[in-house]
Amino acid sequence: MTFLFNSDAARGQIFRDTFAREIPDLPFSMDPTTVDPDEVRYLMTWTVPENLARYRNLEVLFSTGAGIDQFSAASVPDDVKIVRMVEEGIVRMMQEYVVLGVLSLHRNLPAYLQQQQAEVWKVLPQAQAGERHIGVLGLGSLGQAVLERLKPFGFPLSGWSRSAREIEGVRCFSGPAGLVAMLAETDVLICLLPLTDDTRGFLDAGLFSQLPRGAGLVHVGRGPQLDQEALLAALDSGHMSGAVIDVTDPEPLPPGHPFWHDARILLTPHIASITQPHTAARAVIDNIRRLRAGLDPIGLVDRQRGY
Ligand code: GLV
Repeated sequence: MTFLFNSDAARGQIFRDTFAREIPDLPFSMDPTTVDPDEVRYLMTWTVPENLARYRNLEVLFSTGAGIDQFSAASVPDDVKIVRMVEEGIVRMMQEYVVLGVLSLHRNLPAYLQQQQAEVWKVLPQAQAGERHIGVLGLGSLGQAVLERLKPFGFPLSGWSRSAREIEGVRCFSGPAGLVAMLAETDVLICLLPLTDDTRGFLDAGLFSQLPRGAGLVHVGRGPQLDQEALLAALDSGHMSGAVIDVTDPEPLPPGHPFWHDARILLTPHIASITQPHTAARAVIDNIRRLRAGLDPIGLVDRQRGY
């Protein structure tokens, strides 16, 4: 029974050391060329290797990241469990980035950066936090964690998910009618949805038109969820005021893409949150212990739902 790690060597070394210390009875390999394929029970990887079928006794596919949309589920046998990465490093970084994005839009940072370039010293009107409604799309572990981090600022907080949730201090909405209700009162919309057939193109002209005038977007889901032209049109018409974008389609954006030079958009290269190997190794080991105890791992993907 072996754990095969298929990612970069520097991270692998940290995993190897942590496994040796915490779960020494589980052999750890970083080399698919020397491992006995029949021994591989656990595989950690970002993409599904073409020769996955050689691991005939594979039980669990661990994603190195929070998302699993890069796996084509059809290429993974039905009896193999797929597990998302849920670890405190990813959570903390996502909390930081979303707070950065929300505060940037709340405090007019894109406009002040433009003013600085133009040597303009001018005070812009400022809404107070209590008047700025924040809405989060997606109430999984990351959505809930960012809402928790936003609480002390005093923004009215809402969240939407496919199925109903209850979170203290957050107005929770669900289903299609709940989405309409939340959007109508959301000044800063945060997208933390997983990428599925249902969420591809989710952030489109119809959705933007339901937001109040002057709304902003923080997009930390996946690039294909955003209709880029619809966002630009909403910014051009003044219906939306700004956006903080960390994920695009494609990545990287091609030279000359309008997002590069649009002063209303703060653009970052998919860095909002990155798996941290020390904490991730411990999270994976905890999951192997859960599996050994007959429990579901944290982050187990529902293959029907797609996340
Ligand atoms: C990054 O986007 C991840 O899925 O961890």
